[in-house]
Amino acid sequence: MYVCICNAVTEDDVYGCMASGACNSAKDVKAACGMKPGCGSCTKRIHAMVSEFRTASELADALTGGPHPLTAVPEPTAPEQIPAEAIAPESERDRKGAAPPTAA
Ligand code: FES
Repeated sequence: MYVCICNAVTEDDVYGCMASGACNSAKDVKAACGMKPGCGSCTKRIHAMVSEFRTASELADALTGGPHPLTAVPEPTAPEQIPAEAIAPESERDRKGAAPPTAA
């Protein structure tokens, strides 16, 4: 849904700007979305969206203990580098062709 008809800015555009962390005010959102001065009827709606987003972010931080920094995901280990003792016993039985255990 459009938030600003004059600049064709949608709710997704505004939420995207706020989620990037660069926008803490309606003025920041307007600048980040590249909005030019227009009729101004969207300003109240953008203020409300920023306020809702900040409240939600603060609540999430309070519940989770604060924002967590992004961490790099380690490179996956190649299968040939995995020690044999780390492989599940079922995998070794399957390679040798042994029948899986049956229920008694
Ligand atoms: S609706 Fe945003 S400036 Fe007109």
